[in-house]
Amino acid sequence: MFSVSIIGFGNRGSLYTKYLAKSKEVEIVAVCDLSQEVLDFAKKEYSIKEENLFKSEEEFFEKKRSDVLIIATLDRLHRRQAERAMKLGYDILLEKPVADNFEDTVAVKELAEKYGRDAVICHNLRYTPFYQKFKTLISEGVIGDVLSVEQSENVAYHHYMLSFVRGNWRKESETSPIILQKCCHDLDIIYWLIGKKCTKISSFGSLDFYNKQNRPDYATDTCVDCKKVDCAYNSVEFHTKYPGGIIPEGQEKSRENVINVLRSGHRNARCVFNCDNDVCDRQIVNMTFEGGITANLIMHGFAAPFTHRITKVYGTKGAIEGNINEGTVKVSIFGQEPYVIDVKKEMADNSHLGGDSKLVSDYIEYKNNNSKPLGISYIADSVYSHKLAFKAEESRLNGGKEMEVE
Ligand SMILES: NC(=O)c1ccc[n+]([C@@H]2O[C@H](COP(=O)([O-])OP(=O)(O)OC[C@H]3O[C@@H](n4cnc5c(N)ncnc54)[C@H](O)[C@@H]3O)[C@@H](O)[C@H]2O)c1
Repeated sequence: MFSVSIIGFGNRGSLYTKYLAKSKEVEIVAVCDLSQEVLDFAKKEYSIKEENLFKSEEEFFEKKRSDVLIIATLDRLHRRQAERAMKLGYDILLEKPVADNFEDTVAVKELAEKYGRDAVICHNLRYTPFYQKFKTLISEGVIGDVLSVEQSENVAYHHYMLSFVRGNWRKESETSPIILQKCCHDLDIIYWLIGKKCTKISSFGSLDFYNKQNRPDYATDTCVDCKKVDCAYNSVEFHTKYPGGIIPEGQEKSRENVINVLRSGHRNARCVFNCDNDVCDRQIVNMTFEGGITANLIMHGFAAPFTHRITKVYGTKGAIEGNINEGTVKVSIFGQEPYVIDVKKEMADNSHLGGDSKLVSDYIEYKNNNSKPLGISYIADSVYSHKLAFKAEESRLNGGKEMEVE
């Protein structure tokens, strides 16, 4: 049995809590978030005592309140809150990215060492049945030695628009480069599957579509006033279909309310060709690993209908490949009939294709029984895979220059 508190009770923090609350082996003690609405929800849903709800980070960190702290605030707060937590003696379960810059990323690892605390990073893709199958097959030597990996991160146009054109992660100066924010999972998966160090890396990428140069003549500043109702990025139509993202809990999720919220100056009202975004809408990364293993990653914001990842791993005896959304893994061994392994049943919970619930259940096992989950990412591993993202970005900003990864 262990106790847990959560700082940052938004999408991620509340989701982890929902899974933790299903276990009798965990006590949920305290929640800290700037939003009163969120705190009210946490109190009602998880019977958290009034004195354990905090609107102020300062008050929350006055003392240690549980064994573990989940840190699920936005990226640039991670380092500060991780430091405060570990200094007080918390073990932490920290959302990715560890921090929005490499210096702070390394600092979190050093602070964990200094204070002797356990820091685990939420690389939930590792816990999906899809990637667990890849990892197991590779570890069992089914395709021999790994020679090459191809990874594509195909971000759906609506997902890209919400997060990277209009949303929290649109500006590098306010968050981090998309190759870290979105693709630290992919670089981590490549590193985890190969299980060796990267030696060289290069990257190209740009923002060439979702920008003001491509603004159509007819477009108005916001979708609310735009006559082009069949535009794929029309926020009135999008949020009428998915009102949860902008209509506060307890309010009627009607079209009229969607329009009122968007008219009140909500950032999602903005035309996608009239925003202040600057992160890449496409990027590619090439890598070599120890032993001459090659890998590449392609990321773009133009997929439909949904965001999906496709992974192919080639070895000395055959290949493993699949599209994570389809929930199947195809194994082709030289000279044999290919076969398909269905992992859909294990993806029963759809949040991140089964990765989120498994991350939480494995973490509970790890804390209570000292087990070592297949997917666990200790801070040192995450620092390494984040380093690949920072190096890739450095290369991109230097015209694709080949970078050594020491
Ligand atoms: N593992 C994944 O696949 C995945 C997916 C999405 C987001 N993330 C990461 O999770 C983190 C949270 O993202 P999210 O989508 O839940 O964001 P969110 O905006 O929904 O939630 C963040 C919450 O933090 C609260 N907050 C802000 N400042 C605070 C402070 N000083 N003290 C306490 N609370 C504060 C906000 O009120 C909000 O409720 C980010 O680091 C993001 O990169 C990870």
